[in-house]
Amino acid sequence: MDQAEQLRNMVREQNRVEKKTARVITITSGKGGVGKSNVAVNLAVQFRKMGKRVIIFDADIGLANVEVMLGAVPQYNLSDLIYRGKNIKDIITEGPMEIGFISGGSGISGLNNLSKDQIVFLVHSLAELNELADIIIIDTGAGISDSVLEFVIASPEILLVTTPEPSSLTDSYSLLKALHRNPTFAEGNRNVDLVANKVLSDEEGDSVYERVNSVVERFLNGRVNFLGMIPADSKLEKAVRAQKVVSVQYPEADASKAFEVLANNLLNHGNELYTMHKGITQLFIKFITREGH
Ligand SMILES: Nc1ncnc2c1ncn2[C@@H]1O[C@H](COP(=O)(O)OP(=O)(O)O)[C@@H](O)[C@H]1O
Ligand SMILES: [Mg+2]
Repeated sequence: MDQAEQLRNMVREQNRVEKKTARVITITSGKGGVGKSNVAVNLAVQFRKMGKRVIIFDADIGLANVEVMLGAVPQYNLSDLIYRGKNIKDIITEGPMEIGFISGGSGISGLNNLSKDQIVFLVHSLAELNELADIIIIDTGAGISDSVLEFVIASPEILLVTTPEPSSLTDSYSLLKALHRNPTFAEGNRNVDLVANKVLSDEEGDSVYERVNSVVERFLNGRVNFLGMIPADSKLEKAVRAQKVVSVQYPEADASKAFEVLANNLLNHGNELYTMHKGITQLFIKFITREGH
């Protein structure tokens, strides 16, 4: 039995024992600066308002904008757990509205080189998140780099953020093409949820979706789901400048209302069957045991 097989057995065993698996939603985009971190943090706030316990996992090694927006400076990150004996609760920072926050930090890039013992420890630690959260939101970097792409492919639910800008549309398409070309993604028969951000009208939001979906249908023989749209809103920018979250600072703003609709759409379409056995531990196992890295 090779190491990957051993790890898969371990996850299977864990699934048998685990009572509950937190839902994992991974947020990504073709290019940066399209609103991923805002979607992550505002969805977290909206889910909190609905009584869900939420943990945001920041897997973007580049820009630490989740922590800036939450005004929460993490003392430790995933590396401290893997290499320095911290436990999972030590590396969770509490933000506004009791939103938990974990910084991946450099720990993410180190995931490729872990020993079996380290992996076992990591997976058992991550499993504890299922007790602490109902929903885990993962904010990734833009999906252009290989490791981000692999991380997205390992994710049970993928939320793709796009703006009406032509470069965002083409980069989203490139990302979708890379996903569809990957056998693991294709076999999973999974859909990607599209969020049109910074739209000037409902018509523009619809057309963003139509444009992306039509090329995916035509050239990739797939489709994307339309999860919803967020208007371009100066209140959101104002909140970001003040290191605040628009859904907290301006709950009546158009963007905040749209995030509420988005959160509702996610809760309504995520059925239990779909999320079962697709938790945070499985994501990391898939990522770590993927082929060819
Ligand atoms: N709906 C929106 N309305 C207005 N500005 C937005 C909106 N979404 C994002 N922005 C702007 O884009 C910037 C980048 O957003 P961010 O969430 O950090 O993107 P990413 O995480 O994809 O790099 C924000 O600081 C904000 O100024
Ligand atoms: Mg970001």
